Amino acid sequence: MSPKEQLDTLLHESRTFSPSESFRQQANVQDARIYESAEQDPEGFWSAQAHELTWFEEFESVCNWDPPHAQWFIGGKLNAAYNCVDRHTLTHRKNKAAIIWEGEPGDNRVLTYDMLRREVDKAAHALRQLGVQKGDRVTIYLPMVPELPISMLACAKIGAIHSVVFGGFSAQALRDRIIDADSKLLITADAGWRRGKIVPLKANADEAVVGTPIEKVIVVERVGAQAAIELQDGRDVRWQDLMASAPTSPFPAEPMDSEDYLFLLYTSGTTGKPKGIAHSTAGYLTGANTSMRTVFDLKDNDIFFCTADIGWITGHTYLVYGPLSAGATVVMYEGSPDFPDRDRYWEIAEKYGATILYTAPTSIRMFMKWGSQYVEQHDLSSLRLLGTVGEPINPEAWMWYHKYIGQERCPIVDTWWQTETGCAMIAPLPGLVTTKPGSATRPVPGIAIDIVDEEGNSVPPGHGGYLVITKPWPSMLRTVWGDDERFRNTYFGKFEGIYLPGDGAHLDEDGYIWILGRIDDVINVSGHRIGTAEVESALVAHPAVAEAAVIGRSHEVKGQAITAFVTLREGVSASDDLIAELKQYVVERIGAMARPEEILFTAELPKTRSGKIMRRLLRDIGEGRVIGDTTTLADPSVVEALKAQYKDQD
Ligand code: WT7
Repeated sequence: MSPKEQLDTLLHESRTFSPSESFRQQANVQDARIYESAEQDPEGFWSAQAHELTWFEEFESVCNWDPPHAQWFIGGKLNAAYNCVDRHTLTHRKNKAAIIWEGEPGDNRVLTYDMLRREVDKAAHALRQLGVQKGDRVTIYLPMVPELPISMLACAKIGAIHSVVFGGFSAQALRDRIIDADSKLLITADAGWRRGKIVPLKANADEAVVGTPIEKVIVVERVGAQAAIELQDGRDVRWQDLMASAPTSPFPAEPMDSEDYLFLLYTSGTTGKPKGIAHSTAGYLTGANTSMRTVFDLKDNDIFFCTADIGWITGHTYLVYGPLSAGATVVMYEGSPDFPDRDRYWEIAEKYGATILYTAPTSIRMFMKWGSQYVEQHDLSSLRLLGTVGEPINPEAWMWYHKYIGQERCPIVDTWWQTETGCAMIAPLPGLVTTKPGSATRPVPGIAIDIVDEEGNSVPPGHGGYLVITKPWPSMLRTVWGDDERFRNTYFGKFEGIYLPGDGAHLDEDGYIWILGRIDDVINVSGHRIGTAEVESALVAHPAVAEAAVIGRSHEVKGQAITAFVTLREGVSASDDLIAELKQYVVERIGAMARPEEILFTAELPKTRSGKIMRRLLRDIGEGRVIGDTTTLADPSVVEALKAQYKDQD
């Protein structure tokens, strides 16, 4: 479907789903006045939410907004790890499961809050012994094993800033992130399991750290002998050895200032260089915690199954800081949804009695493709609420999710947010809001959203515009690490004092928000954000390539797929082998998620007279659309040649 057709389908989506009476009656939020009261007094609303956390020192004022810089809960002191772990051990939750972990090969591990506290404290002691201090950056490159949340929480306990790099990233990508964050310590694993195969993390780490500030590498043994790794003397230490010899005494939680950074998480933007999104301690934690209670309607007996990898913001907020700060039980799964078979998620959901499931549209579309028989083999009656995140969900996928996973019983919360926003911004409160398939509905209480035109004026219903957030919120990013100018320009450069997420959207007649996707040069592949410029710089680094232009085109399962148009250097000839080599080259420089779906060689790229590549035309070609305005093209024949070539390829 072309974007235009997609938009028409969305505009004609008229099905609505109201929460059932029984869901409504048990919901945490039953009173719709929460929206108005939060709007009238956002500071009062957020202050009340922040008081769900445990503070070492009470904050003095709620918010200071000096655009683009916000400070929240000023003067307060708290510790994120204390809030996620220690405080629960002083309650009835002491022996409650905090993390139910399942490894891909079928091994599992359950950590109660009390056990988690002991692990986190030992890890904090170990990090401290290796010299980690408050404010230091620690890079974490791990598969989905319990040591990942343990490492993050140990950093938080010390007051060190963690920077988790998704295990699917290449050595080069890891290296760039280590250098940018200036980390002295890296936590990695020998290897990870994915679809029954070994993912060589340590080998990537070895390559990544050379010539960086990294002094020590902690290596978690996950795979063991089969991974066949070597430890470098004086630099590498086994996690298991450190933990075995670490003091077992409690590690005192560092009292952090509200505004001290809790973590950095790198995300793609419109230039080739990823941005280190910096999140604060108090504001971020308040946002994560609040949305667990409101959007996810979390109760003490819930089993929260979030399928995201902790290497992305969804995993940070909804596998670690949100659920644990709220004292929940989370289900964490290490591997692939189709290993050993395509029913793995449903097997896990049934086995542990998951009550809330949070996953991505791309996964739902894949499940649809696989067929409902994999779902029907399992008893999913424990589920009571479903969530989606990562990209607009097409109404058909929504309906499938509703029917086969939710069994027409579970409300669906479609949550729009970003790495930068920290937690869900647009989403229904499931006991209150009638949902429409494909719409994230309305802003959550305390969040001010608008859709505006080029001049910043609100657009009427039915008209597309820029999605913006007009007031500061606690979990907003504080800066781009080491580049405040970029923070200012990217997010606040277009409209003064107004946050620009980079998404297009429109309102319908009922005031429901429909997200239309990115409006910048960012592609959303299976819910992963990839900058076209990153892929382009990877391609042009190859000796055969003269120039490259990368676009996203719609893809049935991935949402978007990467198409690269490449011009070759003089004397290099095009071949299928070269295509395969270039694809692999991108994988090595960024990671598997950035592998171009297709590469097209072209003698020239369409450019304006000033030499700017006209991506819009390339996108039109990619989608097989009628080509729009070509009058600014330096050489119009380029487009005709490309079109003919693109057709040949199909
Ligand atoms: C971009 C943010 C938030 C965690 C996952 C991705 C898109 C995200 C939705 C949704 C429509 C969505 C947006 C956004 N997006 N959720 N429910 N409906 N679009 O985090 O990597 O920072 O990407 O994902 O385009 O800007 P991220």
